[in-house]
Amino acid sequence: MSALMNIYARLPIAISHGEGAWLWDDSGRRFLDGFGGIAVTALGHAHPRIARAIAEQAGQLMHTSNALDIPLQQQAGQALCEIAAMDSAIFCNSGAEANEAALKIARLHARTRDIESPKVIVMENSFHGRTLATLSATGSEKVQAGFGPLVEGFVRVPFDDLDAIRAAAAQHDDIVAILVEPIQGEGGICPPSPDYLPGLRALCDTHNWLLMFDEIQCGMGRTGQWFAHQHTTIKPDVMSVAKALGNGFPVGACLARGGAAQLMQPGNHGTTYGGNPLASRVALEVISIMREENLLERATLLGDLISTTLREQLADNPLFVEVRGQGLMIGVVFNQDPTAVRDAAIDEGLLLVPAGQNTLRLLPAYTLSEDDALEIAHRLSRAANRVEGMPA
Ligand SMILES: Cc1ncc(COP(=O)(O)O)c(C=O)c1O
Repeated sequence: MSALMNIYARLPIAISHGEGAWLWDDSGRRFLDGFGGIAVTALGHAHPRIARAIAEQAGQLMHTSNALDIPLQQQAGQALCEIAAMDSAIFCNSGAEANEAALKIARLHARTRDIESPKVIVMENSFHGRTLATLSATGSEKVQAGFGPLVEGFVRVPFDDLDAIRAAAAQHDDIVAILVEPIQGEGGICPPSPDYLPGLRALCDTHNWLLMFDEIQCGMGRTGQWFAHQHTTIKPDVMSVAKALGNGFPVGACLARGGAAQLMQPGNHGTTYGGNPLASRVALEVISIMREENLLERATLLGDLISTTLREQLADNPLFVEVRGQGLMIGVVFNQDPTAVRDAAIDEGLLLVPAGQNTLRLLPAYTLSEDDALEIAHRLSRAANRVEGMPA
């Protein structure tokens, strides 16, 4: 029996080391990393500047306490607020915790409106984490199964459907916020229609609701802007960030703007590790590297290259439905369960993960060379063509 609880359906591949977009298993086999630890290693593996920042900071000071001033946390908060156009940050260690903080801010917003039993509008097909509150917000019965009673106070509507929100508003007078991924990730890489996010902003303004964006998977440059909602002109009141913010070091943040940034007061929230000197130093270094190496532009360029190549190479494959997403957040949709294609891709030396229904996800590093980007597309196309040729 394993000493680990049985919570993952793991592939039998043990990676021993990585460099850039490449990973090597313990038998020396080399793989292209097509999913970057699920949208985490945006700068690739073993980035020398990240490795150096961690080593230097570990040699100087890793942790003190949020009972003391942490100048590096101030700097990381400043850098993050600058790129996000937000006012202030709470640091934490994961995406779920960032969303927990967002949901707590929504509850405090309810208090300012004298609402006793506040409700947050959440979406079908969404994913917000595995803590009790965030799994209750998540739109997946599979994620929730076995964990009732769920946290109360969520009204669920279909994604990309403004009328459904108008109907919810007519039915409930105790709504205080909307929590939504600007592009759904786990749900299958689903971008909404162009008028959706501005429509949400308008509804929140009309009803005095907080607009809360979960940018944990689609943020930090992945779609070609720092945050996916920045492809529009609207701003959220609250935003959660994690994953690529630490390039593999666990760090997350909940950001807020305007009145929403004033709601948390001393004693309302806290964390032992969140934003410690080591985590803050890594987040700062990640932001600097993305800025200095123009990696947002690169995410757009490489995303277009991979998506266009896949569309060309899969056009005649009867299993292929579409490529969707933005920048380096790419979903390749098939008309059947994509596990066989995923397995064939592994044989081709390409690692990727499924998402939602019938979709394989590509979330590679923004530091990919163009050759490696093309190689990802070629290997996936070859894998899909091999599966297509197999007897059903
Ligand atoms: C959109 C979104 N929100 C929240 C989370 C939860 O993040 P974490 O696993 O760091 O708690 C994830 C993780 O996949 C995510 O994709």
